[in-house]
Order: sequence, then C-alpha cells, then structure tokens
Amino acid sequence: MGKAIVLDGKAVAARVRAEVKTRAAEFARSRGRPPGLAVVKVGSDPASAVYVRNKRLACEEAGIKSFAFDLPDSVSREALVAQVKALNADPLVDGILVQLPLPKGLDANEIMDLVDPAKDVDGFHPYNTGLLAQKRPRLRPCTPFGVIRLAHEYGITLQGLRATVVGASNIVGRPMALELMLAGATVTVCHTRTRDLQAEVERAEIVVAAVGKPGMVRGEWIRPGAAVFDVGINRTAAGRLVGDVEYDAAAERAGWITPVPGGIGPMTIAMLLSNTLDAAVARS
Ligand code: GUN
Repeated sequence: MGKAIVLDGKAVAARVRAEVKTRAAEFARSRGRPPGLAVVKVGSDPASAVYVRNKRLACEEAGIKSFAFDLPDSVSREALVAQVKALNADPLVDGILVQLPLPKGLDANEIMDLVDPAKDVDGFHPYNTGLLAQKRPRLRPCTPFGVIRLAHEYGITLQGLRATVVGASNIVGRPMALELMLAGATVTVCHTRTRDLQAEVERAEIVVAAVGKPGMVRGEWIRPGAAVFDVGINRTAAGRLVGDVEYDAAAERAGWITPVPGGIGPMTIAMLLSNTLDAAVARS
C-alpha cells in the first residue's frame, strides 16, 4: 500500500450534493418550482447510457427536476437542433446537457454552440470557455471544476505550484489548464505530440491525467509528494475500471492521489448539479 493520502471524491461529492440539495429546496420554496436540468442522450453508446442514467438519478436525489430526452442514433441534425432550441426557450429548464460523443454524422461543435450560454451547465459553449480563459469564470466545465474543488477540500494549495496536465481535450485537458492558471499554478499541457512526457510529469507538483489510456502515466514518474488527479476511466479486458495512472506505484510516491473509481468521477456529477443551481439562480 502506498503512502499517499487517498482523495475521497465520493465523500466530497456527497457533501457538494448535500449543499446543492439545500439550495434546490430553497430555490423551489422561493420560486414555486424546482430547478430543472434537461439531459439529452442521442444514440445508444453504452457508456453514455450509464453516465446519463447516473446524472438523472443524481438530479432527482438533489431535488432538481430532470427532463429526459432520448433520441435515436438516426435522429436528423434538424430534429436535434429543434430540440436544443426548444430547451433554450423553455422557462422550466435551467440547464441543458447534451451527452457527448454524438453519433457519427452529427457535429458536436454545432450543437454545443446552439446551447444558450446561460443554460450551458457543461461549460462547453465557447462563450463560457472564453470567460474562463479571461479569468472571469461563469459556468465552468464540471470535471476540471471538480478537480479544483477536491483539491480545495483537502487543503491542497495550487498557487505557485508546477502543474502538468496530460491530455488536451476540449472537455478536460484544456479547461483544466485554464482552471489551474486561474488558481495560480504554472501550467504545462501535454498531448500526443509532446516529446518527453516523462520529463513533464517528473517536474510536476500537481499532475492531472486525462487521456483515456491505462498506465499512460507511470508511477515511477511521480515526483515525491505530488498531488495526482486521475480523470481517466478505462475498462480493462477483465472488466475492472482503472484510470490513466499506474495507481499502486504512483501511490508509493505521491502525497495525494485520486482512486478510480471513487475519485474524480463522482465530483464531475456533483459539480454538474452545482452548476445547475448556479444557472437556475442566475436566470431567475
Ligand atoms: N462526455 C464525457 N464527459 C462528458 C461531460 O462532462 N459532459 C457531456 N455532455 N458529455 C460528456
């Protein structure tokens, strides 16, 4: 067993959800309706089905009304566009989430650009991305926001530290870099063209792994005492869930580390609920 403190995302997420539940009850009392989140699933991707079900259940538990839309793989661009526009116009809907990836043939960028930025609880609209980039965050992408909240809850300082983000996706890597900069870290972002990933990780006092490849970040690369946030969720051939970091070896060296499952995953959903409350309050 490693020496690292295991960051209990499940427990912190439960606390965030309890806060949201209190806020949702207060919202419902004062506005005469619950906050509402529309979760749109397109197609039959099995992983998406699990994520969407978990998001809807979490809403109901927190006192947020969940509006469910399940569209077939064959849905037309026009029908999906019409669905998003209808949700933009619906006063009972405070948040809109279109689960990604979309089936082939649909342009996720086009759809995300259509979501009203005031209802963009994923924080994926370029307007919200731009605000985060300009140090005036509004609705913030749930996974990076969850990493920051988890660090905060454990008293892990970020200011002035060297942070390396492994992965440069629009959903996690890029907004994670913006969040870490906002928190005062010195940030390096690694991607498929990075020449020496090991050297970039070895330097880091904060490591965030978000690539979707088991074992991509080797345990022996971790700087002693570093905080390691593993965003990866990968299923092994044996059916086990593992992250992107070699957990056992990393935990021998790290100061803090998130487990998979039970680390960042639960935080993502909790921050989605929190964003929904923020959106609801800001809109009314
Ligand atoms: N697919 C993977 N992660 C996410 C997420 O945070 N939001 C949405 N909408 N789709 C995703």
